Amino acid sequence: MSDIGAVLLRQVEPETAHRLAIRALATLPLPKPPADDPILRTTVAGLDLPNPVGLAAGLDKNGEALRGLSRLGFGFVECGSVTPLPQAGNPKPRLFRLSEDRAIINRMGFNNDGLEAFAARLDARPRHMVVGGNLGANKDTEDRAADYVLGLKRLAGRADYFTVNISSPNTPGLRALQGRAALDDLLGRVAEARSGPQPVFLKIAPDLSEAEIVMIVEAALAHRIDGLIVSNTTLERPASLKSGLAGEAGGLSGAPLRDLAQNALIHAATASEGRLPLIAVGGIASGADAWARIRAGASAIQVYSALIYEGPGLVAAIKRDLAARLRAEGFSTVSEAVSTGR
Ligand code: FNR
Repeated sequence: MSDIGAVLLRQVEPETAHRLAIRALATLPLPKPPADDPILRTTVAGLDLPNPVGLAAGLDKNGEALRGLSRLGFGFVECGSVTPLPQAGNPKPRLFRLSEDRAIINRMGFNNDGLEAFAARLDARPRHMVVGGNLGANKDTEDRAADYVLGLKRLAGRADYFTVNISSPNTPGLRALQGRAALDDLLGRVAEARSGPQPVFLKIAPDLSEAEIVMIVEAALAHRIDGLIVSNTTLERPASLKSGLAGEAGGLSGAPLRDLAQNALIHAATASEGRLPLIAVGGIASGADAWARIRAGASAIQVYSALIYEGPGLVAAIKRDLAARLRAEGFSTVSEAVSTGR
């Protein structure tokens, strides 16, 4: 898929465009990307990454397009969220492009093919790339924590890392798992269920207070979580939004999320004091954005919405810019630059 492809896809109804993009990535014989500049090589929670620019969860919910995604130059690709049972998600329309705001609102509601189909796709995945499995809970499940445990067990050995996603706003009650008692129960059961060396990350919302983030960092450390992904989409609607679709229900992502996600990251970095690796996501659309997150404490970053507006050439552009900034500032690795802006 080229950047021209991305322009054409933006003329099509958003969910149809999404399906076409996944189909294209799954079927087109894309060339291998050039090898990464060695200055970008880095390690996050024991994962060796050729570069720190990842794909955020939600674009390839079912792990269908991993081969094509491996050709876009990402340092790591997170697929999911997957729930134990297949589910249809919310009624359509449920995906909205706020073009004037370079933003997206989605209320997909964890539409996905379920854990069995996901496990089979991971079995057939390209091995040369770092793939994360993002775990969710079924809408009608009584014991949400049990769904994450099922995901961890079924995908053990199949993904290179796992993300426990408790921050999607489109499954009623899911974000309540970020409260202390629910979080202790969930993370205790996750700690018991995990096997193997694969790191487990926790993905949090940008709409938490500083005190809540401090509490989550402490709970994560207590339960041996390997890192935080900061952040998911927001329920906020900043006053700056211009699009007529701004009132649609769901999670907002893209440019208007940038400052909220950056602030949540700063709170997490302050609370963790280097004890917990952080992966930044939310409104990152340039090398400058990625650099600001790394300087604020992120060991790696992820993108989603900006890819829709900029096309897949964004990945190479961010990598080029990061490599140039590292050299200009006298760093020889990404890790050396982490938290240097704090
Ligand atoms: C998402 N995101 C998401 N996150 C997650 O953990 N599980 C999921 O299933 C999804 N699904 C999803 C669908 C759509 C259409 C969008 C736009 C986003 C959230 C995503 O991974 C990311 O955290 C946010 O989009 C913020 O990053 P950007 O988009 O501002 O770069």
